[in-house]
Amino acid sequence: MSLFGNDISPVAMDVEFQTKDRLRFKIYDPNSQRFEVPLKIEAPSTAAAETNYDIEFINNSSFQFKIIRKSTGTVLWETSLEDLIFSKQYLQITTTVPSTSVYGFGEHEHPSFKHNMNFVSYGMFARDEPPATFANLYGVHPFYMCIESDSNTHGILFLNANAQDVTLSPNPSLTFRTIGGILDFYVFLGPTPENVIQQYTEAIGRPHFPAYWSLGFQLSRYGYGSIDVLKETVNRMQQYDIPYDVQHGDIDYMDRHLDFTYDKENYAGLPEYIQQLKKDGMHYVIILDPFLTKDEAPGTYRPYELGQEMGIWVNNSDGLTPAVGKAWPPGDSVFPDYTNPRTADWWIQMCVEFKNVLDYDGIWIDMNEPANFGTGQLPGCAPNDLNNPPYVPRILDYSLAQKTLCPDSKTYLGDHYNTHSLFGWSETAPTFIAVQEATKKRAFVLSRSTFVGSGKHAGHWLGDNFSLWKDMHMSIIGMLEFNLFGIPYIGADICGFNLDTTYELCLRWMQLGSFYPFSRNHNAIGNKEQDPAVFGVEFAEISRSTLLIRYTLLPYLYTLFFDSHVHGNTVVRGLMHEFTSDRQTHGIDKAFLWGPALMIAPVLQEGARSVDVYFPEASWFDYYTGDEVPISWHRKYGSIDAPLDKIPLFLRGGYILPTQAPATTTTVSRLNPFGLIIALDKQGEASGSLFWDDGDSIDTIENEVYFLAKYTFSEGQLRTKIVKNGYRGVDSLIYNTIQVLGLTSRPYAIIVNGKVICGEDLQYQANGKLTLQISIPITQELNIILQ
Ligand code: NOJ
Repeated sequence: MSLFGNDISPVAMDVEFQTKDRLRFKIYDPNSQRFEVPLKIEAPSTAAAETNYDIEFINNSSFQFKIIRKSTGTVLWETSLEDLIFSKQYLQITTTVPSTSVYGFGEHEHPSFKHNMNFVSYGMFARDEPPATFANLYGVHPFYMCIESDSNTHGILFLNANAQDVTLSPNPSLTFRTIGGILDFYVFLGPTPENVIQQYTEAIGRPHFPAYWSLGFQLSRYGYGSIDVLKETVNRMQQYDIPYDVQHGDIDYMDRHLDFTYDKENYAGLPEYIQQLKKDGMHYVIILDPFLTKDEAPGTYRPYELGQEMGIWVNNSDGLTPAVGKAWPPGDSVFPDYTNPRTADWWIQMCVEFKNVLDYDGIWIDMNEPANFGTGQLPGCAPNDLNNPPYVPRILDYSLAQKTLCPDSKTYLGDHYNTHSLFGWSETAPTFIAVQEATKKRAFVLSRSTFVGSGKHAGHWLGDNFSLWKDMHMSIIGMLEFNLFGIPYIGADICGFNLDTTYELCLRWMQLGSFYPFSRNHNAIGNKEQDPAVFGVEFAEISRSTLLIRYTLLPYLYTLFFDSHVHGNTVVRGLMHEFTSDRQTHGIDKAFLWGPALMIAPVLQEGARSVDVYFPEASWFDYYTGDEVPISWHRKYGSIDAPLDKIPLFLRGGYILPTQAPATTTTVSRLNPFGLIIALDKQGEASGSLFWDDGDSIDTIENEVYFLAKYTFSEGQLRTKIVKNGYRGVDSLIYNTIQVLGLTSRPYAIIVNGKVICGEDLQYQANGKLTLQISIPITQELNIILQ
């Protein structure tokens, strides 16, 4: 008998060869159905005939089970089934891992991207908790990636939603402990980190394709307090011409924190003001919380009354009476059970109807762990096995009920004990549908609680961080991790949420945040204002110039999101993703890449005016000057100047990045001329692509109403192939600025689509940078010959 009793015997194990690169093994109770995560992972009905893995059972005293990479013999998973524990409320399995380059598991604030394996444990259970090391935070992602000693990389998902923890030990090994469900593992063979994430998102769902406007800069705060303060903020942003696409409305836009209302006193005129913002080319996102007060006067709060009529709340253990807790709204609140399809209908209806009141463009779903201000619902949790399991994983306060509902509450899919960490996940798809139905445009959904597969319908921000220098660094790690989790639309609250920020911290954070895929400055109630226009002209100009770089590069970022949506690529990635065989990159988490081609190396220290940047083996060019990083710095750290007005950025040789002249909104910038930055590698070659569509229609890819061009540069010639020309909005767009970096000599003649370019349209700098001014429709295949 195991430690906690109630052992299940026999247990069964199924192994499925799902694809050439994906293996599933599942250990379960053959005699009784236990909770399984309702995530549909499609698998062909017949086993893959050829696989890149082998499995082995060794029938010795410890009954070993191994998963082996065929090509190298590396053992990716090795477990002694003898040591396996499978009891009613305690399941444990240990495996070796082939190296200590292990990444992932969430959601936590990890002190480093590459894990410390020295007996470190992380609990996973959705919780409303500001980021702190070792705390279990808002979402649950039991997924890790491991770079093997020969640089092949694999990923493993433990598909389990129960409260759980994982211990990383120096053997190296991993021990998974969970208090419910089954042991259900998926192994992804890679062999590159990008392949792993492509295979992972193929299984769990590709990331959604964000609207173009949502790649613009966004502003928010909790507690503007009134529409006047909001307007003052927007005005000063516009006075300084700071690029700015989206304004968020936090809970203070609501009437007394009631979902589907707005405050007609403090925010009188909000509907009209939203129209004004839209005329200025901007977008507006509203927050919604997953709790509804039950204590408004009868007949006055329809969202609650309709929900009550439909019987869609999370219930108490009796399965009949709604669980009643306390959250933002006055009185006590009930919690929609989004695992119930009827709840989804109600929610969609409410959201769609509310569009007639506030003409929102997207929905930000908060507090969906679900958060409750007490420990369990009223009157507290009964003493029973669900509420007090024999083993509580290493989660904060060792409590399953703190700040949420009692585990024995009932949801449509079963006990809250099993479905708790799926609450936000189950709210996400209906919200996505709601926004799509309401706006008739591509949905914007931002969710605080996420689970495996949430990226299909939502982006995420890293929660209630602090205005501290350390938190800036942590935000990079979080952003890299969520790219592994298939949620590339990710960012942290720029300048920090909790605490007052400072001038320098906020300025550096604006620079870093200009390179978050989801770039939003957000602040907590009561803290001093921190929008980039509030600190005066110097701050505003620096923020503006950094954001203008972001906006210039948005076509590149958008194309990365296209690749992410279609092929499952990461958008932001660590250096180790691209330079996997360079082990020095494995621990780097202070610099990061946009796709393969742009390195961002922010200042993360107060007072620092330089950054030590590691340059893996490649040609690197300073974004600002086009100067090539000296070869003697390759595979070394170089000290890069970073005065207050500069964030170090480097372009990687071998890549072509599409750009567009920036503007203060994407609505305007989308009409501007395009450009290309062609950064050559040592062979004088480069390649890249541009995806373009109308930026916010639904299913443009599926409907083939898009434009896609592929560029290649070799032997002094740029060639363009228009792969798809299905979007007529490109007909009026042109290329104007072409930069080539890394030339070894000045070309004596330049021919663009058959015409010689000369005079002022051509600039050559001694550092090998050529700039051309042209005017060619992007529907023409651009051909440039340098002779
Ligand atoms: C908690 C969220 O994390 C934060 O971003 C928001 O401002 C507050 N709730 C108030 O809605």
